[in-house]
Amino acid sequence: MTEDSSPALEHCPAIRVMMMPRDTNAHGTIFGGVLLSYIDQAGAIEARKHTVHKYVTVAMNGVEFKEPVFVGDVLSFYTCLAKAGRTSMTIDVVVQAERFTNPRDVVTVTQATLVYVAVDNNGRPTPIGKLAE
Ligand SMILES: CC(C)(COP(=O)(O)OP(=O)(O)OC[C@H]1O[C@@H](n2cnc3c(N)ncnc32)[C@H](O)[C@@H]1OP(=O)(O)O)[C@@H](O)C(=O)NCCC(=O)NCCS
Repeated sequence: MTEDSSPALEHCPAIRVMMMPRDTNAHGTIFGGVLLSYIDQAGAIEARKHTVHKYVTVAMNGVEFKEPVFVGDVLSFYTCLAKAGRTSMTIDVVVQAERFTNPRDVVTVTQATLVYVAVDNNGRPTPIGKLAE
């Protein structure tokens, strides 16, 4: 890596994907909404690791895109459980881009905090229960 902002050790890889031309905005760089969708998926994957429920996203906080992402860049989404509540889980997601032209050039694109709520079949919050070890 060409930078020192690797995800903290407790972050685990959740998703790794190459950006394609279909993912661009009108200016040819990657559309932020595509990243938000992957961030949401990565967080849900992390939540499911700890207890299996139906989860809905109640909040995505602090998403700030610090670097552009280009077609061909390989994005890695790293996640960790920040907090377990009664019915909710707060998950940190770190997104890094490995540049297509130089795989050793890795930049942190964004870091987000998401809150997922476990819901029952009526869509109402339900206790998350005991976390998996
Ligand atoms: C998520 C949802 C079920 C929560 O219902 P609610 O009646 O507000 O639930 P509660 O007030 O009992 O809160 C449930 C938990 O969510 C947390 N929570 C609720 N709103 C929150 C917010 N804006 N930010 C962070 N946490 C929040 C509460 O702190 C609580 O956590 P805890 O039990 O661990 O202490 C409801 O808001 C919903 O269905 N939202 C739509 C979700 C969805 O469809 N998302 C996909 C995108 S469209």
